[in-house]
Amino acid sequence: MLKLDISYRKELNSTFTRLFDKVEVLRSARPLQQSAIQQIKEALQLEWTYNSNSIEGNTLSLRETQLVLQEGVTIKGKSLREHFEAKNHEDAIELLYTLANKNNALSASNVLDIHSLVLRAIEKDFAGRLRNGAVRIAGANFIPPNANKVSDLLDELIVFVVSNPLQLNTIELATVFHHKFVWIHPFFDGNGRTVRLLMNLLLLKEGFPPAIILKNDRKKYYDALNLANNGNYSKLMLLMCQASERTLNIYLSALPSEGDGYQIISDIVGEPEVPYSQEYVSLLARQGKIDAHKEGRNWFTTKEAILNYKRAKND
Ligand SMILES: Nc1ncnc2c1ncn2[C@@H]1O[C@H](COP(=O)(O)OP(=O)(O)OP(=O)(O)O)[C@@H](O)[C@H]1O
Ligand SMILES: [Mg+2]
Repeated sequence: MLKLDISYRKELNSTFTRLFDKVEVLRSARPLQQSAIQQIKEALQLEWTYNSNSIEGNTLSLRETQLVLQEGVTIKGKSLREHFEAKNHEDAIELLYTLANKNNALSASNVLDIHSLVLRAIEKDFAGRLRNGAVRIAGANFIPPNANKVSDLLDELIVFVVSNPLQLNTIELATVFHHKFVWIHPFFDGNGRTVRLLMNLLLLKEGFPPAIILKNDRKKYYDALNLANNGNYSKLMLLMCQASERTLNIYLSALPSEGDGYQIISDIVGEPEVPYSQEYVSLLARQGKIDAHKEGRNWFTTKEAILNYKRAKND
């Protein structure tokens, strides 16, 4: 059975509490914020793909990744493989959201399906298949287990995550899963990208937004994994908390704050910062271009929603 040194909890207790409070705020606000949430989701999806692939060595920039994914452009001087990696990762995220919305617990076939997308059209002999030989991780302080143990170890890890015998909270569980998974290193390639997707399946299922490990934190991330290999989870837990809090805040900042709630449109358009007429804002509301909802005969929106729209148009 998995043993875990939980001394990191002393340091992180208040952080955990704050994060779970934020998830609750988000959860209760959710039905009102569909259009804002959709925009953020798309932006994060791009960031996630760029950062995870970049950690793995993909040289497409954020902007180039966006061009590939949103405009279908090919980037001169970049390999076909790098283009596939971007597209594959995006599709893997789509599958992840589909899985997150189902009520099924994490399964071995989820793991293989995600991996299979990550390496699709790139390494067809490896995609969706557990390794059958030895691997080494550059810079790691250990050698991953023998190939003939991989299948059982992975199954045990999934049972651990699903049954949660140590009653870990969602972030702890995603973090331990992340580390144990790359320790097992079930695949010849694509372990990192796959686990950064799967840990987010665990988070998404519990109402968290995706936690994105940033390219700029690559060294910190690898150091934290090396510490975890020695049983010390403090750095990796902190990194995961920070990644979660960043995206939580992105979502929360899109919510109307206390004093700036939903108002009837005619009351907002009189304000000096709002450059649009009542007719125009009503049109935007009806077309779903701003976050708004109808109560009785009147449309309600927030000043923030209108200013967001204006900002996005000027970008
Ligand atoms: N010291 C370490 N201990 C445990 N796991 C590590 C360590 N260093 C790196 N890793 C994990 O191994 C992954 C690399 O494995 P692999 O090359 O199969 O995956 P990848 O997706 O191709 O690349 P990457 O993971 O860099 O995106 C890293 O992303 C990280 O998650
Ligand atoms: Mg690799």
